[in-house]
This record gives sequence, C-alpha cells and structure tokens, in this order.
Amino acid sequence: MNNRIYIANWKMNITSKEAKSFFEKFLVLYKSSANKEVVFCPSFTTLVSSVQSKLLNNSDKIYIGSQNVSNKKLGAHTGEISVGMLKEIGVEYCIVGHSERRSVYFESNEMVNNKIKLLIEDKITPILCVGETLEEREDGKSDQIVLEQLSSCLKDICPFKVVIAYEPIWAIGTGKNAIVEDISHMNTIIKNHMNKLGYIDKQFYILYGGSVNINNLSIIDKASFLNGFLIGGASLEPESFWGIIKK
Ligand code: PGA
Repeated sequence: MNNRIYIANWKMNITSKEAKSFFEKFLVLYKSSANKEVVFCPSFTTLVSSVQSKLLNNSDKIYIGSQNVSNKKLGAHTGEISVGMLKEIGVEYCIVGHSERRSVYFESNEMVNNKIKLLIEDKITPILCVGETLEEREDGKSDQIVLEQLSSCLKDICPFKVVIAYEPIWAIGTGKNAIVEDISHMNTIIKNHMNKLGYIDKQFYILYGGSVNINNLSIIDKASFLNGFLIGGASLEPESFWGIIKK
C-alpha cells in the first residue's frame, strides 16, 4: 500500500516569522510514522526558512513544497520563480494547477503540462490538482472534466511519481464537502485512468482536498483509493494540522 500524504497548503498566509513559531510548536507535537509523509507548502518568501526549520530539526518524513512554479525554464520572465530556483533551496514537492491559479491567474492545462515536465526533469514531485466547478457537477460533467485535466496535464510525459489531488472547486474554503460515495467514484475514475496512461499503482497517490478538517476527516477517509489529504484552512494552526495527521 502507498504511504499516506498530508499536504498543508498555506496559500497567502504565514510569514517567515510566523512559520518559525509554527514549526517550533508543530515539531514538539510531531512524531514521525513509517507510512505517513507530511508536506508543507508555504509562500515563496517563507520557503527558505521552512526548509531551514526542517533541516535544523532533522524532521523525518517532513518535506517542503512550493505552491507554484513558472512554466518557463529561465530567462526574461519578470516575477516568476523557476524549477531550478526551487531545487536549489531544497524544495521536494510543488503544487500545480490549483483551482485558484486556474480561475484567477488563467493557468491552463497546457501550462500545467509544461510545469510538470520541468519539475520531473529536476526530480521535484508534482502535486497536480484536478476538480470540477459546481456548474460542471450539476451538468453531470465532473468525470469528463477531471479526465480531461488528467490527460492534458500529463500529456507526453513518461510515468513518474505524481500526487493527484482531487479538489471539487465548490468544496474549497467553503465548508462544503463531497460525499464519500462521490469521492470514491472519482478516485476510481482517476485510478483507472492513471493505469490506462501507463502508471502502476505505486507511482501515483490520490488525495482529497476541500474544507477537510478534524471533524469531517473520519468520514472522508472511508473513500476508496484515498492516499491522503490536501489541506488549506485547517493546516494553519499546528495543533489542528497535527490533529488531522495523528488521526
Ligand atoms: P481548504 O483548501 O482546506 O481551505 O478548503 C484546500 C485547498 O485549496 O487546497
């Protein structure tokens, strides 16, 4: 069975100073477990100090990830951060195609595909977010949308380790959750499609994200083929994030 992965997506929260105090508290609570990986995805400016906190404390099974990366390798791209820059500071995971980047910053499947190609060249594990809007769900198009996202984002890439985060867009930051049967259904669709694309089960992880917290975790956790969670709001406090991992 694959490890479980717990990813904290801090979004545009938590400064370097706040992260230092977060890690001080979190690492007191934290006990590593053989089959659990924990990934923190802070903002760009907080990445360096987060990597340092992890290294200083030699925290087993904790990794640092970026929330985004440029789809260009290098050159005249003002304001962008390259895969090489992330690699240099010790980043090991990177979120791509988050719905907030797709909807607000017009990140297309093609851009995500370029990002993934660059990430795997430098051996950074992509965390690929997929998911449908409420309108698409109501129109019965959820499966089609997610399959399209998977196929386009993974186009022309040989199988490698990838984390797929299924995040129904209408569940992110809203307090609403998909029901466990729907998550199981989507996970099955994702698993079968990944196998069809040539991925063996050990090469991909399926996570769920969207308003996950300590209260709804046990129910969501019953979904089939689930390897962990991508957590926003409930990862901002050490006690709350640790509570989820521990459970
Ligand atoms: P949320 O965010 O847990 O606050 O809904 C999840 C995400 O956007 O990855």
